Amino acid sequence: METKVILIEEEKISREAVGEAGKIIKNGGLVAFPTETVYGLGGNALDEKASEKIYRAKGRPSDNPLIVHICRIEDMYSIVKEVPEAAKKLADAFWPGPLTMILEKNEKIPYATTGGLDTVAVRMPAHKAALAFIDAAGGYVAAPSANRSGKPSPTLARYVMEDMDGRIDMIIDGGGNRIGLESTIVDLTEEVPLILRPGYITQEMLEKVLGRVETDRAVMQGDGGQAPKAPGMKYRHYSPEGELTIISGSEEKVVEEINRRSAEMKKRGEKVGIIGTDRTAAFYKGASVKSAGSREEEGSIARTLYRILREFDDEGITVIYSESFEEPAGGGIGQAIMNRLLKAAGYRIERI
Ligand code: TXA
Ligand code: MG
Repeated sequence: METKVILIEEEKISREAVGEAGKIIKNGGLVAFPTETVYGLGGNALDEKASEKIYRAKGRPSDNPLIVHICRIEDMYSIVKEVPEAAKKLADAFWPGPLTMILEKNEKIPYATTGGLDTVAVRMPAHKAALAFIDAAGGYVAAPSANRSGKPSPTLARYVMEDMDGRIDMIIDGGGNRIGLESTIVDLTEEVPLILRPGYITQEMLEKVLGRVETDRAVMQGDGGQAPKAPGMKYRHYSPEGELTIISGSEEKVVEEINRRSAEMKKRGEKVGIIGTDRTAAFYKGASVKSAGSREEEGSIARTLYRILREFDDEGITVIYSESFEEPAGGGIGQAIMNRLLKAAGYRIERI
C-alpha cells in the first residue's frame, strides 16, 4: 500500500484535503492525523474491521482499547450508556482539549474498538485540523498514538512516516504537536474519578471541577504487583532501544555521577546518550548529549522528550542516562513527564 502524505495548516485548512482524508475513513481505511498532544492513527470507531486494521498496523495486542475521538461534545451522548454529571462538567471545562474520559459504552461501539471492555475512552482534541478531519470522517474516529507498538508516540509527521509507511493510507502532516505527551485519562466509572494516565490536565485541575479525584498507584510506581486499570499501562511502552537509567539528586552531583558512569560505559564499548537541560547540557562530556529544555518551562521538556528518545534510537545509542524531572514538583505537566520517563526506564531510578 502506498502511504500518501498531505500537508494541512491548522489556520488554513483545505476542505478538499480534509474531505479526501475523511472519505478514506468512511471507506474503512486508516489515516494518521495531528492533535495537540501526539499524532493519532485513525480508523472508523464504529467499524470493527477498521479497529482490527489499526491493531495490525501498530503491531499492538488487540486487548489494548482505542480512544474514540469526537468533534462535538453532544456526540459523546450517542456512544455511551449514560453521561454522568461529572462527564458533563469535565467536557464543559476541558473540551476540546487533552482529556480522555472513560465511560460505559453502548452497543454503537463494537468490542473490537474497546478491546472487549464494556467501557469506552472518549476525547475531543483541541486541534482544528483534527476536528475538521473527524467531522469529515463521520464523527467517530478510533485512534491510538500513531507509533509502532513499543516506540515513543510520534510528535512529528516524519516519525509517523518512519513507523507507518506502507501500512496506512494517508498521513496528515500538521507540523509539531503543541503538548508532546498523550492526554490525561480519567476513569469516571469508579465511585471516585480515577486518573489512569497523567497528562497536561492535572489532578488539581480536575479537582477544581469535580472535588475529590484520585490517581492510580501504578502511574508512578509501575504495576507493583497490581494490575493497572488502563490495559495499555501494562505494556512496556515508550521504550528506547538503549537501556535508560534516571539519576536523581542535586544538579551538581547528578552531572558528576552521570559523567563518571558514562565514561565507564564508554570504556566497555557502549554508545552513551545523556538527557540534560539547557543549563546542564554543556557540562556533560564524551557522549551524545541532548537538552530536554528548561526546568523553568516544563512544557518545553514535554514537547522534546519523545523526539530525544527517537533520536537516540537512530544514533544506535545503547546506554542512556537522564536527569530526573521530579523537581520542582510544581504540579503542571511535570508528573506526566516523569511518568513517561519512568516507563521508558522500566522504573529504573537511582537517588544519589
Ligand atoms: O493524547 C492521546 O490520548 C493520543 C491522541 C492520538 O489522542 N492517543 C493515545 O492513545 O495516546 P493510545 O491508544 O496510545 O493510549 C490510550 C490509552 C491506552 O493505555 C489504553 O489502554 C487506555 O488509553 N484505554 C483506552 N480505552 C480504555 C478503557 N475503556 N478503559 C481503560 N483504559 C483505556
Ligand atoms: Mg500509545
